[in-house]
Amino acid sequence: PRAALTDVLSAAQSGRRGVGAFNVIQVEHAEAIVAGAGAAGRPTVLQLSENAVRYHGALAAVGRAMLAVADAADVPVVVHLDHATGVELVEEALDLGFTSVMYDGSTLPVEENLATTRRVVERAHGLGASVEAEIGEIGGKDGVHAPGVRTRPEDAARFVQETGIDAVAVAVGSSHAMTERTARLDLDLITAIRDAVPVPLVLHGSSGVPDDHLREAVTAGMTKINISTHLNATFTRAVRDALAADPALVDPRTYLGAARTATAREVERLVRLLAD
Ligand code: G3H
Ligand code: ZN
Repeated sequence: PRAALTDVLSAAQSGRRGVGAFNVIQVEHAEAIVAGAGAAGRPTVLQLSENAVRYHGALAAVGRAMLAVADAADVPVVVHLDHATGVELVEEALDLGFTSVMYDGSTLPVEENLATTRRVVERAHGLGASVEAEIGEIGGKDGVHAPGVRTRPEDAARFVQETGIDAVAVAVGSSHAMTERTARLDLDLITAIRDAVPVPLVLHGSSGVPDDHLREAVTAGMTKINISTHLNATFTRAVRDALAADPALVDPRTYLGAARTATAREVERLVRLLAD
């Protein structure tokens, strides 16, 4: 069924487990992610980025599909808006029934990020939904998930305290959209932030982090593990293989179905890695 982010993350946090949060582009991704999490018997997060909304031209069609897939699932499934920079899109997702939103004001001046994040929290909490947000680097253009950027524990603690958010994205060494899994996280920093911050911590750019190191990051204190690029690579490899195997193929269900199966398997593997 559809689940609240705070319920899923607080249960995981107290059990020192990680929760895989996977990005959806089309309905097959949502089906695959829920099938994989279901096979592992663990909750998951379906997330839709503002970029994916832009690709579709609208939130509603893909958003409603995600909600329907979540509602039909055997395991708890959070339906989350990822990296929203616009408050209007946040409102639309909440009105549609998303149980969680990430408001990303990380490229804004700190005071503006704080003020807008507070407004989003008020709106979401009024509807029983959760908010993830992140502190920016002052003047930073790409947000905080870039090589070399680090969140200071005291800054994360103050940001959470001043905004009332339910989960906080922190910069601990990963960066977005890596296609090689070579990132090294600062595990001592993760523990220091976890000790300073009362809410669950979110790792972005997890595609670049190798399996064993993802596990260590969870043990050190990360709870929500965002994975997008790596699953896209799995999906696309299966499409490429299916097309190459049969040049006469015309039915999209053949290659999308192969991609959905491969993605479900990889989600199951990752969900077990993070939670077992
Ligand atoms: O918000 C989504 C994630 O941070 C995904 O990052 O594509 O590098 O795994 P990734
Ligand atoms: Zn991200």
